Amino acid sequence: APFDPFQAELTTMPVAQPVKATKTLEQYQITMRPGTADILAGQPTPILGYDGRFPGPTIHATRGREVQVTQSNQAGRNLVVHLHGGVTEHASDGHPMDIVGAGTQRVYRYANVQRGATLWYHDHSHGEVAQTLYAGLAGFYIVNDPYEDALELPRGEYDVPLMIQDRSFNADGSFRYQLDLDMGFHGDTILVNGAIAPRMKVERRLYRLRLLNASNARVYGLVLGDRRETLQIAADGGLLPRPVKRTLIPLNPAERIDVVVDFRQFGAGTEVILHNPSGEATTQAVMRFDVVKGGAEEAQVPKLLSELETLPPVNAARKFVLSFQSAGTAMWQINGQGYDMNRIDCRPRLGTTELWTFVNNSPHPHPMHLHLAHFLIRSVDGRPPGPADASWKDVVAVQPGSTVVVRPYFDYYTGVFPFHCHTAEHGDNNMMGQMEVEE
Ligand code: C2O
Ligand code: CU
Repeated sequence: APFDPFQAELTTMPVAQPVKATKTLEQYQITMRPGTADILAGQPTPILGYDGRFPGPTIHATRGREVQVTQSNQAGRNLVVHLHGGVTEHASDGHPMDIVGAGTQRVYRYANVQRGATLWYHDHSHGEVAQTLYAGLAGFYIVNDPYEDALELPRGEYDVPLMIQDRSFNADGSFRYQLDLDMGFHGDTILVNGAIAPRMKVERRLYRLRLLNASNARVYGLVLGDRRETLQIAADGGLLPRPVKRTLIPLNPAERIDVVVDFRQFGAGTEVILHNPSGEATTQAVMRFDVVKGGAEEAQVPKLLSELETLPPVNAARKFVLSFQSAGTAMWQINGQGYDMNRIDCRPRLGTTELWTFVNNSPHPHPMHLHLAHFLIRSVDGRPPGPADASWKDVVAVQPGSTVVVRPYFDYYTGVFPFHCHTAEHGDNNMMGQMEVEE
């Protein structure tokens, strides 16, 4: 292995502090700038980060309370901030062409109308995301929900966001990037919260782990110890209707899965590894939990977690064929076209649902993502989804040769929003379309 796993302690993520807070509004000030990260012993790694940190500071929002983030761009290049999974008005959505110019700043407004969920923010400057995300521009944004607080799920220090990414390093300690238009970048080293396959002390009690795949392109299939059971409680869009037992946790680029792990099943002194068995040798160890004694357990997972909203009927059906066009400039396409900011591909009506069919005619998987609209997965190759996927999502993996039907709900805002493949190198290379949600 290029680096031995479990040498570093898991980093507690920095938490953003509001510069001003009232009952209805919290204001933050973040500077996007170069910085360094202590990943390798004695060799600082240059990064580009929110507040110069890698990963960026976690924003804790509350449902129903607006957040304004003034993003000041001191990065020396044009950037765009997108709140991934956010139900956000167009002007603050971080449309890939809606740049914050170098040396300027911009106020992003997030109304937090949606249910509690694990969101994240990242750069979205068109054609540059593979570089900027890789350089470090990513952070958690957690929507807390009074409804969720009333459940007795693990909280506080037992509610742990875990940002999983792959990187490679140059001899001087800098991140090494190699463009792969086809597969997207795959690094040889796994980082969690910016530390190489770290270890974390856990007490013998329940933990909520908020897993985020913030890698450019890597797909994970996570396994705890010798295939121990975890309880998935949430997906991209928040709590599932009921918890779902999982021994293999698939995590595609940009997806979030929240699981509750009961560490009481392990004796104090046990070391439990979170594996990625489908990865190459050096990317199989993700992190290690070192179990220590704990006090009395206060958390539990209720049998019923949430209720799915009743949906308006389906108003339109659309089909999107995903393919690769290598003649001329190599380009990833949707319905035979690359991204054009002046073209609107479809016009959903506000307050309706639609059926969107993704057909993958290419040899690589595509994690398809919609801005604004969360969706339910209707079918994968004609079959209904498993229980873990039967709730709100904003990313769905479409495997080669596969057909996936989703049902997005266009709620809250009108305006132009992109939808795209979240493999960073695919989205950058024009695998993106636009919808305009209309009144
Ligand atoms: Cu996480 Cu349009 O992206
Ligand atoms: Cu793709």
